[in-house]
Amino acid sequence: MMSSTFSTTTARNIFYGGALFSFLLFLALTFHTESALPQRDARALLEANPQVAVGKRVWEENNCIGCHTLLGEGAYFAPELGNVYKRRGPEFIKAWIKAQPTGTPGRRQMPQFNLTEEELDALVEFLRYASEIDTNGWPPNIEG
Ligand code: HEC
Repeated sequence: MMSSTFSTTTARNIFYGGALFSFLLFLALTFHTESALPQRDARALLEANPQVAVGKRVWEENNCIGCHTLLGEGAYFAPELGNVYKRRGPEFIKAWIKAQPTGTPGRRQMPQFNLTEEELDALVEFLRYASEIDTNGWPPNIEG
């Protein structure tokens, strides 16, 4: 019968055992999160390299986000740039920015920003930094 195999004591033990197990699991996962976070701290990476911070300022002052997305955030007029460093490389990026607008008929145009070599180098450093942020594999393909 049920009462002979599953006593009140058994029920209580399952309750206490389950509660203890959940609490230990919670502690273990909290510990794991706390130890994994510093390696994924994008802000620390940013502050570790002053040129990246300069590049971020160039990025903001010229409102690149007004047309582009960075890791999905921003405007959807122009390509995602979070992975453009890996997609095109530093020389292409600088040459591209200097060559705007292309004037190619039927294509959306990007303005000329008249950036200095220092600003371009810093911008490329910022885009390199962005490409190294751990996004758990997003976007799934390199053209995304
Ligand atoms: C007014 C909108 C606009 C702004 C602002 C803008 N862009 Fe663009 N950008 C574009 C468009 C449109 C393209 C794609 C053009 C094409 O494919 O012919 C592009 C393409 C690019 C590409 C090449 C992407 C690729 O996948 O090959 C890079 C790099 C780039 N932009 C960087 C920047 C940076 C850095 C800034 C800020 C300094 C910026 N853009 C500001 C419109 C803009």
